[in-house]
Amino acid sequence: MINSPNKKVVITTGISLLLIVSGLLVLKFRVGVRQQETSKAFIDRMYQSITGFKIPKEEKVQLKEAGASSTYGEILFDSLKIILDDLQLTDQDVFYDLGSGVGKSVVQVFLTTPVKKAVGIELSPTRCARARQAEQILKKEDKVPLDKEFSLCEGNFLETDLNDATIIYMGSTCYQSELMQAITEKLSAVPAQNNLRIVSLKKLPENTTFELIKEYRLPMTWSKKKGSPVFVYQRT
Ligand SMILES: C[S@@+](CC[C@H](N)C(=O)[O-])C[C@H]1O[C@@H](n2cnc3c(N)ncnc32)[C@H](O)[C@@H]1O
Repeated sequence: MINSPNKKVVITTGISLLLIVSGLLVLKFRVGVRQQETSKAFIDRMYQSITGFKIPKEEKVQLKEAGASSTYGEILFDSLKIILDDLQLTDQDVFYDLGSGVGKSVVQVFLTTPVKKAVGIELSPTRCARARQAEQILKKEDKVPLDKEFSLCEGNFLETDLNDATIIYMGSTCYQSELMQAITEKLSAVPAQNNLRIVSLKKLPENTTFELIKEYRLPMTWSKKKGSPVFVYQRT
């Protein structure tokens, strides 16, 4: 027979153990749910309060002076996925988004392909600051493995070293012809052995270094139904 104070201890210990076990089960369930989250859902969650659409007037002027209009838009996850599936990137690839806005495309490439390095270059300080908030979330949630490099940099892509690039993405709809000319010349100087491929929303100007190998029409934030043209080039 258990006397009454001992009985109390046994019951209290039992209840405590039960609470600990159920707490651990809830924790395990939550971690499980998080692990099942798709990259698309993760990116949506990451960016639920981060947007690149509004920037101050002086940054619009800065963009105009650099040869781009201030109109902002993004490629949609499913559209970029179609392109990435066709490109078949490997762990030898280095990806750059030239004009990366808040960095969504860079995050998608980094999370869903085996590239060894993914970089975004963005001129607008406001968009860069927001991209850095996204980068913090990525790091906090342990999404940056030690053997892969992820970076979102503030600057003009015409002044950035792109010599290790193997894949370039440009949401170039808002780039004026002088800027398209300048970036095509810069990309022509990337070492030939990189076999650089370029995905651009605007056709590259006439040149002898890159040939058009594929065209798409894919939905973008500014044209969800009709879609927008996408051009893929490889080195000749
Ligand atoms: C159409 S948005 C593309 C955003 C992003 N690539 C995406 O799809 O989510 C183009 C971006 O290029 C940036 N931009 C324009 N000219 C630039 C330059 N010379 N250097 C760096 N960024 C530039 C703009 O500020 C804008 O954020």
